[in-house]
Amino acid sequence: MIDLRSDTVTQPTPGMRRAIAGAAVGDEQKREDPTVDELQRRVATLLGQQAALFVPTATMANQIALKLHSRPGDVLLADETSHVLVYEYGGAAAHAGLMSLGLTGVNGRISPEQIRGAAAPSTKIADQRVTVLSLENTHNNAGGRVWPLADLEAVVATAREVGLALHLDGARLLNAATSLGVPPATFTSRFDTVTLCLSKGLGCPLGALLAGSSELIERAWREKHLFGGAMRQAGIVAAAGVYALDHHVERLADDHARARRLAEALTDAGLAIDLERVESNFVQIDVAPLGLDRSAALTTLREAGVGLSATIHPTVVRAVTHLDITDEDIDRAAELIPRGLGIAAPVAAR
Ligand SMILES: Cc1ncc(COP(=O)(O)O)c(C=O)c1O
Repeated sequence: MIDLRSDTVTQPTPGMRRAIAGAAVGDEQKREDPTVDELQRRVATLLGQQAALFVPTATMANQIALKLHSRPGDVLLADETSHVLVYEYGGAAAHAGLMSLGLTGVNGRISPEQIRGAAAPSTKIADQRVTVLSLENTHNNAGGRVWPLADLEAVVATAREVGLALHLDGARLLNAATSLGVPPATFTSRFDTVTLCLSKGLGCPLGALLAGSSELIERAWREKHLFGGAMRQAGIVAAAGVYALDHHVERLADDHARARRLAEALTDAGLAIDLERVESNFVQIDVAPLGLDRSAALTTLREAGVGLSATIHPTVVRAVTHLDITDEDIDRAAELIPRGLGIAAPVAAR
């Protein structure tokens, strides 16, 4: 099967496996793992932050960040379809005691006016307030959409003006930087905390980092223990991260080019795709015009030999390009997807 369900399905490459096998390791809880140290240093520099902390998952990085920025009873603001609100099992409430206020964004993006309105003082005298804003870039549920720098800057400025702490769920922030053609620090340095995931486009088996000021990351070490995320010879996996920074960042542009080529071929074949929305490694296909039910569509596609996945939108499925997808896979998927969805005579991929 050509597996386009997600960029989380990648297998470690032979080079990455060699890096893992040869990693220098130590007790990470004692801060004695040289490979973890190196990864943390490199990611902090890359993101324009003072420090970074290695954690097992991006979910844990997000949840630690939300806790750092709030007290129980505070309010978290985010786009209503963002990962922190939709897919983290209510962790903001469970771990930090946060109430959540989801704002209706456009392409995963919320506006300065929405933030100003939501952060207005509460009628409760005893200090019930919005304290933290979480943004996502690229935005998963919006279909891998990228924040234009000017829009992001305006939202950051407003959040600062009204006194909110700012977290970036940048699980795919390197895809965003690639799409924008800027160094990641151009936008990541503007946040108090930033999550970067290693197990998506970067192709690692697991791992994520939370970056921020030295003071916040020092507090994050304690939260990591509390979450049960403090590890021992974690350099075994951090080595994959170091390898990915050296070998798998520039190639994200290939994933984006392949997503675009697939999207164009599928559009030529008659599928409902908004090409303007293809900004990174996601292609969203609406199966409603074909009169198809989403789960039936996914099943027939799988039987045809290509794996796509569901999205938050009831009639939309998605194809996600990644490290294990070649140009030949794209050519083949451009034939198999229309055929699997019952469309005859597809046009070959450009
Ligand atoms: C935007 C975003 N943030 C966070 C996560 C969480 O990553 P993990 O499943 O590794 O915890 C994901 C996973 O898909 C994601 O898409």
